[in-house]
Amino acid sequence: MQLPKKVKIVEVSPRDGLQNESKIIPASIKIDFINRLSETGLSVIEATSFVSPKWIPQLADHSEVYQGIKKHHHINYPVIVFNKQGFENALAAGVKEIAVFTTPSELFCKRNANCTVKESLERIKEITQLAAMHHIRVRGYISCVLGCPFEGAIDPKLVEDIAKQLIDLGCYEISLGDTIGIGTAGATHTLLKTVLKNITKNVIAVHFHDTYGQALANIYVALEHGIHIIDSSVAGLGGCPYAKGATGNVATEDVLYMLHGLGVDTGVDLNKLMDVGCFITTYLERENRSKVSLAKRLS
Ligand code: HMG
Ligand code: MG
Repeated sequence: MQLPKKVKIVEVSPRDGLQNESKIIPASIKIDFINRLSETGLSVIEATSFVSPKWIPQLADHSEVYQGIKKHHHINYPVIVFNKQGFENALAAGVKEIAVFTTPSELFCKRNANCTVKESLERIKEITQLAAMHHIRVRGYISCVLGCPFEGAIDPKLVEDIAKQLIDLGCYEISLGDTIGIGTAGATHTLLKTVLKNITKNVIAVHFHDTYGQALANIYVALEHGIHIIDSSVAGLGGCPYAKGATGNVATEDVLYMLHGLGVDTGVDLNKLMDVGCFITTYLERENRSKVSLAKRLS
């Protein structure tokens, strides 16, 4: 099977990565981080989430960060929105693209969004209608597509059904999230065979967390299915505070190394991206070291 010649990387570290850090990172660091990412050749950088600060305090500075970053005309900076309130705040901040969330798992939906799956789709309907009025593009996330921390196995047909509904509601792209990194190459193949029966591969992205080191193998399977949109996170940052076991996303550096080795074009400069990875991990390590030394002094 022929692999895609070109892949679009959706860099999710400023959102998926920083939402999972225990310490609150200053907005100035986030802005510097995103500005550096913008110089690497990426075409999509998920900047933040306009969610409730009570639920995700790490991203409470969403408006400041979004408004503070230097926007490049060839780069999209989507943000996650869970409800009308988030949409209105994003709109006020000048956001041009959003991402919405749902999942086939009732229990994960309740834990992560405090609603049923049906209610999450109703929220998405309301958001996509508002987005259309304001010419804002909407990307759809489906989480726990390869397994849920609360419900276990997930039927691929449920994923296919939700993907179709999201497309009907106006999402231009659907990102399939292996939220807890439980997927294997075999499970990824089965899922994509089902999802791609009636949906074009051109609108499907994959979003792997790398809990069991399977993400690159799963991405290779996705490439074999013709998927050419991959979510990843510099330095493998990431995780969802409401999904036990959700460790880091697949590292963008690893994805680029594999893709470039396969002769697949990404438009991203691996060396520049590694420098940005060093920038953010150096910052996070310094913060963690000072936390440890403070704890020692206090003990
Ligand atoms: P709720 O508690 O049911 O919300 O949470 P509510 O409507 O009852 O409101 C409660 C309070 O929150 C109110 O304030 C609202 O004003 C406020 P109060 O009256 O108590 O002072 N509030 C907000 N404030 C600011 N911005 C908002 C907002 N909404 C409500 N947008 C809600 C429902 C959806 C808000 C909550 O469940 C939530 O914020 N969840 C977000 C969880 C999250 O961000 N998870 C991580 C992202 S998803 C992920 O990581 C997976 C992904 O990476 C893919 C994968 O890996 O699979 C995408
Ligand atoms: Mg994620």
